[in-house]
Amino acid sequence: MRIIELNVNGSIVTTQVKTTETLLEVLRRLGFYEVKFSCGRGECGACSVELNGKAVNACMTLAVSCHRALIRTAKGFGSVQNPGRVQRALSECGGVQCGYCVPGLVTAAESHIAASPDSSGEEVIRALDGHLCRCTGYVKQRRAINKMTSGSTIKE
Ligand code: FES
Ligand code: FES
Repeated sequence: MRIIELNVNGSIVTTQVKTTETLLEVLRRLGFYEVKFSCGRGECGACSVELNGKAVNACMTLAVSCHRALIRTAKGFGSVQNPGRVQRALSECGGVQCGYCVPGLVTAAESHIAASPDSSGEEVIRALDGHLCRCTGYVKQRRAINKMTSGSTIKE
């Protein structure tokens, strides 16, 4: 067992972890249920979190390697009362059905935009490759990203 400290959405959390535990297991144990467990093997993107400024699959990341890391989950990008730009766009364009894939999509899109604010819609959509959605057929999600980025530069 090891004790690690994480900064999750601006709050410091200290916890004991097994050396074999994934970041996904630890975050959900700590109550960050917006980080979704789906395939558990790096194939669907549902568990995406931002780790030190880059979107990663939490199911493929060992928690012990995240000591003192800056982590953002989908809740770090907005809330129901105050949604972020990607959350708002997906909601307005009907890009959310069951919602299971959405926290991962939001995290990956926001991370990409933060790193490359001048990205086109197609570039943001490419950053979402590998994020699987069982419900929407992707059309409305693509429309949401394109609508949000129209005018070529993304602004909050
Ligand atoms: Fe991590 Fe599917 S649960 S990529
Ligand atoms: Fe259901 Fe994407 S909205 S999996």
